[in-house]
Amino acid sequence: MLDGVLQPLIANATSSIVILSLTLLLAYLCYALFSHPLSHIPGPLHRRLSSIPLLVSNYRGTESSQAASLHAKYGPIVLLGPNDVHINDGGAIAPIYVEKGGFRKAPYYHSTDIDGLQTIFSTTDPEYRAVRAKAVAPIFATSKIQSDGARILHDCADDFVAALKKAKNGVHEIDLIDLARRYSLDAMSGYVFGKRYGAFTDYTGTETLSATPYVNFIQAFTRFFLVPNWILGYLLAFLGSVYPNQEFETSTEKVTSYVQSLVDEAKQGGGKDTFQKRLLDVGISEAETMVQCEDAIFAGTDAPGTTLGLLVWNLVKQPEYIRGLRHELTDGPMGNMSLLRATVQEGNRTSLANPVRLPRIVPPQGWTYTPSAGGKKSYHVPAGTAVGISAYSLHLNETTFPSPHEFNPRRWVENGQSIATREMNRDLFAFGAGSRQCIAQNLAMEEMFVVIRRLAESEVLTGAQVVCEEVRLGEWFNTRLRDGCNLKIRWTV
Ligand SMILES: *[C@@H]1O[C@H](CO)[C@@H](O)[C@H](O)[C@H]1NC(C)=O
Ligand SMILES: *[C@@H]1O[C@H](CO)[C@@H](O)[C@H](O)[C@H]1NC(C)=O
Ligand SMILES: *[C@@H]1O[C@H](CO)[C@@H](O)[C@H](O)[C@H]1NC(C)=O
Repeated sequence: MLDGVLQPLIANATSSIVILSLTLLLAYLCYALFSHPLSHIPGPLHRRLSSIPLLVSNYRGTESSQAASLHAKYGPIVLLGPNDVHINDGGAIAPIYVEKGGFRKAPYYHSTDIDGLQTIFSTTDPEYRAVRAKAVAPIFATSKIQSDGARILHDCADDFVAALKKAKNGVHEIDLIDLARRYSLDAMSGYVFGKRYGAFTDYTGTETLSATPYVNFIQAFTRFFLVPNWILGYLLAFLGSVYPNQEFETSTEKVTSYVQSLVDEAKQGGGKDTFQKRLLDVGISEAETMVQCEDAIFAGTDAPGTTLGLLVWNLVKQPEYIRGLRHELTDGPMGNMSLLRATVQEGNRTSLANPVRLPRIVPPQGWTYTPSAGGKKSYHVPAGTAVGISAYSLHLNETTFPSPHEFNPRRWVENGQSIATREMNRDLFAFGAGSRQCIAQNLAMEEMFVVIRRLAESEVLTGAQVVCEEVRLGEWFNTRLRDGCNLKIRWTV
């Protein structure tokens, strides 16, 4: 009896729900395809409808190679998500990042806040950054690094070479990523904080740097770079339960107590002219100063470690460059471009330490992108869109850098003269560009020059061979070697 009444009702309700859902879906499709403000930007349908493909590529570290495939199909500007655009044209660096201070960083960067506090790197607010950056900027001037930092960088370079020698004569093998991280961390901390972390203290050549689990943990977070900050809170709790590891706890304690000692000394008037003292002096709180130091430790260890590790690995694979560098050291550079500079520059290009799109928000007046490779078509990119360029697409562009995967310093120099094209110089994007360019880029460069020169003077790499012939890099904000490859080198006896 009841069945007779209910069933048609239920059937009716079900069909209404189905019809309603279909209508909504259709309406959404029409909106996405025809009236969404980005409907005129080329890209595949599934990217237009949802951010999930972009989030998945972020997690898997395939964001930039996927963007490259989209560019191959759709041209110089493509849609990565409903509100996300990628451009593979070096001509767009200036308007997005440089002119008039560049566009603001996208809120995505807040996923790299530490303990809920914004860092010099993570903040999207130019004024917040300006106060802190202005306070510490004098430390990062090349002239100051070359005068006040010379002794520290040379000491660290000596330790770097000594560690290689010890390995060569001892266990005959060493991990270049670990070694390069030690050098980067000690050089940075010794100069910037006025007190070396102690990365080479008690180092026997086989164990892992004590700061590594800490640094790796932060690096692992770049898998969630594009995830909103409030969700990250849950992720952190989740990761904490997946990674409940003693190594990480010990490492964090070590880093934190080192940073605490820096801040304590600065509060008592020590550490004149250091990063931490300069921040405290302009009224930055003690808690935030600690966070800024922790961020500097991550930034000063992970990306430069990868870059230096890969550079040395490439030199081991192609020892003719080490010999060339050694000749140059005795004969002096011939012209306006040394092989040393070319080598570091090529390391800069090939390491792809930060390979992904550096997203910026189009300002309220919108922005019109005109591809620099000609063609009459322009694209209006509306206010609020997250737009960006990646080092991956620029550094691996075959037109600008023929055989882009090849490590070839000679593409920059011939007979001591620079042979770089305008595009080659323009499209180096290792540190970003413009007002939000990496604040410590001059230090990172000087660290490279000092250690590579010292390496060339020594004969320590003679007879060394790489253990893995090929390495594959994941495309996270900070890159990491994919599982199954390493940067170990070995000396045959
Ligand atoms: C490395 O790349 C940056 C651009 O991100 C550039 O400013 C810097 O001069 C380069 N350094 C060298 C030695 O080529
Ligand atoms: C390489 O860069 C040029 C502009 O410098 C651009 O026209 C071209 O589309 C880029 N190619 C790829 C594959 O990204
Ligand atoms: C270096 O010298 C070459 C040839 O003399 C010249 O074409 C080039 O512009 C110079 N580059 C710089 C950066 O001075």
